[in-house]
Amino acid sequence: MRTRRTATDLLVRADARELGAYVTAGSADVAYLDPPFKVEKSFGARVVKGARARGPIAYDDTWPSLEAYLAWLEERIAVARDLLSPRGTLWLHLDSRAVHEAKVLCDRVFGARRFRGEVIWVPGNGSKSKSGPGMGHQTLLLYARGADPIWNGKDPSMRAPFAATSQSMHFTRTDESGRRYRDRIVSGKTYRYYADEGRAIGSVWTDCPAMTANTPLMAETTGYPTQKPVKLLDRIIRATSDVGSLVVDPFAGSGTTLVAAAAAKRNFVGSDMGELAIATVRTRLDAAGVAYRFVAHSAKR
Ligand SMILES: C[S@@+](CC[C@H](N)C(=O)[O-])C[C@H]1O[C@@H](n2cnc3c(N)ncnc32)[C@H](O)[C@@H]1O
Repeated sequence: MRTRRTATDLLVRADARELGAYVTAGSADVAYLDPPFKVEKSFGARVVKGARARGPIAYDDTWPSLEAYLAWLEERIAVARDLLSPRGTLWLHLDSRAVHEAKVLCDRVFGARRFRGEVIWVPGNGSKSKSGPGMGHQTLLLYARGADPIWNGKDPSMRAPFAATSQSMHFTRTDESGRRYRDRIVSGKTYRYYADEGRAIGSVWTDCPAMTANTPLMAETTGYPTQKPVKLLDRIIRATSDVGSLVVDPFAGSGTTLVAAAAAKRNFVGSDMGELAIATVRTRLDAAGVAYRFVAHSAKR
């Protein structure tokens, strides 16, 4: 895949709070934040493909307290918010360990009226627990910078086919261009739905399996822990940005967002503090033929 012609895209080895030194304020249409979740453990890399071997430590996710974690997170969310364009959106990816407190935090940073909803992502890799329902999903909170964020709800990545029974029962009419449709009248207003547009996928996403949900492992698996699937990031990027938009990922990890942004013809800036993360992203971008600049942050800048 050779999607980029110029190296306008950027990878920075830096703390997420430094990203403002590399991105013009108000220029990004998407910020995707997949920070440490407060799991209270260190994550090792998978070094041998297919094996459960514990490789070198990728990153530490232990915290002195919930308050310390939230203070750390809030500082970095506020930096990302300032990078957003007036139509920009921030996705915060967490799980039940801290997402409820983070919702309150984001309401404070963005204003509660900028909350656009949440996506429940079901990675499909099991959820064992002896003391409760287990953790079978993760949550993505959506916040907009302004009142009119980009939302491409009709993008094919946000649609699923109507059920076969619904297609045969309801989509019985054909318009002059040959498209099958149905009309629904709600409160006196007629809404037209086309069979070929499919239905909106809604807020529970079960069709983007995580790396470990697949045996044998998916080809995109890098061995980096907590790597998210490209399909998930592709959907996020297409839903909330346009071709040529800038996508930022302050916690780039293995670089899923950057690879997905390049493939969708968006520009990107990503950062991560970890040595293994940066090495993984670089290998991945190089393998994908994506041109980019790399900078190691220096406090003297
Ligand atoms: C959950 S992982 C991100 C995974 C990534 N979305 C992917 O698909 O591979 C979180 C990442 O945050 C990084 N990180 C932790 N603290 C950071 C900080 N202060 N600034 C930047 N990155 C940080 C870790 O090194 C780790 O790679």
